[in-house]
Amino acid sequence: MTETRYQRVQRKQPEDLRSARWFAPDDLRSFGHRSRIMQMGYAPEDWAGKPIIGILNTWSDLNPCHAHFKQRVEDVKRGVLQAGGFPVELPAITLSENFMKPTTMLYRNLLAMETEEQIRAHPVDGVVLMGGCDKTTPGLIMGALTAGQPLIYLPAGPMLRGNYAGQHLGSGSDAWKYWDERRAGTITAQQWLGVEGGIARSYGHCMTMGTASTMTAIADAMGLTIPGTSSIPAADSGHIRMSAACGRRIVEMVWEDLRPGLIVTESAVRNATIVAMATGCSTNAVVHLLAMARRAGVNWTLDDLDALSREIPVIANIRPSGTTYLMEDFFYAGGLLGLMSQLRDKLDLTCLTVMGETLGEAIADAPVYNDDVIRPLSNPVYHEGSLAVLRGNLCPDGAVIKPSACDARFQQHTGPALVFDSYPEMKAAIDDENLDVTPDHILVLRNAGPLGGPGMPEWGMLPMPKALLKQGHRDMLRISDARMSGTSYGACVLHVAPEAYIGGPLALLRTGDLVSLDIPKRSLNMLVSDEELARRRAEWKAPEPRFERGYGWMFSQHISQADQGCDFDYLTREFGKAAGEPDIF
Ligand code: FES
Repeated sequence: MTETRYQRVQRKQPEDLRSARWFAPDDLRSFGHRSRIMQMGYAPEDWAGKPIIGILNTWSDLNPCHAHFKQRVEDVKRGVLQAGGFPVELPAITLSENFMKPTTMLYRNLLAMETEEQIRAHPVDGVVLMGGCDKTTPGLIMGALTAGQPLIYLPAGPMLRGNYAGQHLGSGSDAWKYWDERRAGTITAQQWLGVEGGIARSYGHCMTMGTASTMTAIADAMGLTIPGTSSIPAADSGHIRMSAACGRRIVEMVWEDLRPGLIVTESAVRNATIVAMATGCSTNAVVHLLAMARRAGVNWTLDDLDALSREIPVIANIRPSGTTYLMEDFFYAGGLLGLMSQLRDKLDLTCLTVMGETLGEAIADAPVYNDDVIRPLSNPVYHEGSLAVLRGNLCPDGAVIKPSACDARFQQHTGPALVFDSYPEMKAAIDDENLDVTPDHILVLRNAGPLGGPGMPEWGMLPMPKALLKQGHRDMLRISDARMSGTSYGACVLHVAPEAYIGGPLALLRTGDLVSLDIPKRSLNMLVSDEELARRRAEWKAPEPRFERGYGWMFSQHISQADQGCDFDYLTREFGKAAGEPDIF
């Protein structure tokens, strides 16, 4: 292993601090800043010559996954003060997966913009990013990577296992499962209420290997958290101690001038992708990984993801790819450090973490306490990585499926399409007990992509038709240009690009057309002749715009397709010169 440890020496003096531009000169403009800090009761002893640490807190009364952030932010401040910094809390928009409509994905880039501009506009020398609920992780990190100041990501931590009638319940996964049983009439309303009350027992994010656990693991594997801390359950006292440690460490990082550009390299993105595949990650990891990597100047592609997916097996036995365990079990089994120690030979151990040490040092003594939860490479949960990237005449720019979470009979499948243009149309049909559908049919939902949804909502796990549920079927092939919740499962092809709403080939598919999926060959095709497709193309009419004003209009003008990470074109690095530091007059 090459030794690349970042020398933990003081590279900055107080006069070099970015915040000194606001406070240090003895003139009228800094008079204004100093007098207004004093207005809040602080004396120069509180801030003068000290790193000012911005704490971007995505707490809100409507985000149960971050309910503990009101207390945790005080722990971060305690750590900052212990290390000789001055903490300032900067509230940022929360993206509450449960309550924001139509989908938090519509607002991921808004959080990224807010994060970047909060850092640029305020007198902060380094930041702690507090997130965890799905899109908050990529949103905060994308913005902070572009801003470029020292950062630590503080992951919210998974909530405790759910519990109902002595059974462990998994976020999302068990909601879908029991909902199908309720629609099939096999559980009572009373039992359903029991599931409702037991599935979310504490603060913290979803505790399956959904999008939240996936994205915090990715942040961790990239080197942006204190190593291994993404696995600590939110309700564990270790989470409180970790929060204070983030506060202490970010002050040191400012003096050391340890910036994210030194941490998030191409090798770090590769490490994060390997770890994501080994965890049985959420399909949402695809769009977020591409967007985050590109903010760091790394041109990561769908093909890079697919190549690693073929090489890396799923070794985290966590639902929904696994059958039994949840994030709490994963923590007790050794957590992400334990998992990365199993992948030691696959990872670039020279990558840096926020601690200034290498990944190799971080996992040097990491044990695995339960090798059924964190499997060795020789006994994987699934022989390949979690995701497969498909291409063909239905998805020339790619589509994604999670083979580890679907019935094995769909590895290769050909069947007739049953096509719906909108969610309400699909919903009405699948609830019709007389719907003419067989287990070989392929449900298709279109106009649910980045522009069509709008915001590419998590509709991709199309509900099973009632008629099939009553016959005992629990999986069928489904295709859409939507995303799917990381807690979902089933044979769902997602992220079809280009999306139907902008005239992608999915727009040309008709009910009754045969569609053929071959996962080992990574192909997805509609068996329709080129001549017929050209005829349908000539007849296709673009739909009405979703938005004619406001943020939605701006989103519509600038959002990229799923295979590009769904970032706004003008936020990418290639778009133009960086804005630089603000003028202070
Ligand atoms: Fe917040 Fe699942 S709802 S992580």
